[in-house]
Amino acid sequence: MTKPHAACLIGWPAAHSRSPLIHHYWLRTLGIEGGYNIEAVPPEGFAEFVLHLSTHGFVGANVTIPHKERALALSKPDARALSVGAANTLWYEGGELRSTNTDIEGFINNLDACAPGWDTASDALVLGAGGASRAVVFGLIERGIQRVHLANRTVDRARALADQFGANVHPVGWDAIGDLLPRAGLLVNTTSLGMHGQPALELDAGRLPSHAVVSDLVYVPLETPLLAAARTHGLKTADGLGMLLHQAVRGFELWFGRRPEVTSELRDLVEADLTKV
Ligand code: ATR
Repeated sequence: MTKPHAACLIGWPAAHSRSPLIHHYWLRTLGIEGGYNIEAVPPEGFAEFVLHLSTHGFVGANVTIPHKERALALSKPDARALSVGAANTLWYEGGELRSTNTDIEGFINNLDACAPGWDTASDALVLGAGGASRAVVFGLIERGIQRVHLANRTVDRARALADQFGANVHPVGWDAIGDLLPRAGLLVNTTSLGMHGQPALELDAGRLPSHAVVSDLVYVPLETPLLAAARTHGLKTADGLGMLLHQAVRGFELWFGRRPEVTSELRDLVEADLTKV
């Protein structure tokens, strides 16, 4: 008898994660015999663990802090992982260990689900220039958004990102945000501002056009002050939990061979878990 397929999340320390809840839900509802474990692997043991992933009993893995850059270096990455400079999903293809970054499709597919037509915006305003921002900017450029204004407290980081992604990305300082709001058809917060325990994101959502869509990658709290303000002004929103659920789809498909759906039942399940914290 063959052992059921299993995947895992590799991190250090073993952080509390919603990924097992998400993948167990899909395994259960699709009737697939399989598993998804959390594996706490310290940096010094990461290479051995990843290079012998199948020996450890896994058909693939998610990778989280602090291993995402090493995961890229130890596998054969696709164009997405290379562009973001970090891999979050590993799988075997013809015996070879491959990697990708599913944050890009997580972000884009969540927008498509929550705010169809969002991509008619000619100007997007992205706040932040860290790792999450790279995935967002890649997705927006790939989707054909003409101008991506990239505002960051440290403007040099925004410039570096613009240098990588080309002429459609316009780096600006944090103080330029107010003037850009009236023409932003899409506003995305990729910074930690507004997250539980972090400073607030000071921004007047009322200055956005009435057709604007607002997306926040922060999901604790689920409704960030930015999303709450956007809703007050009647704007469409896409939240961080939606992105988290959508980014998990591809890994599951690669490991277990079926493309799962992000259902409202799954969302309710994870939402209930978030409110436990
Ligand atoms: P991630 O990989 O999650 O994107 P990161 O690489 O640490 O995390 O990036 C965090 C982002 O939040 C950065 O854009 C950071 O701005 P700096 O590049 O200037 O550090 C932004 N950020 C964090 N705290 C902030 C604050 N108080 N005000 C403005 N931006 C902030």
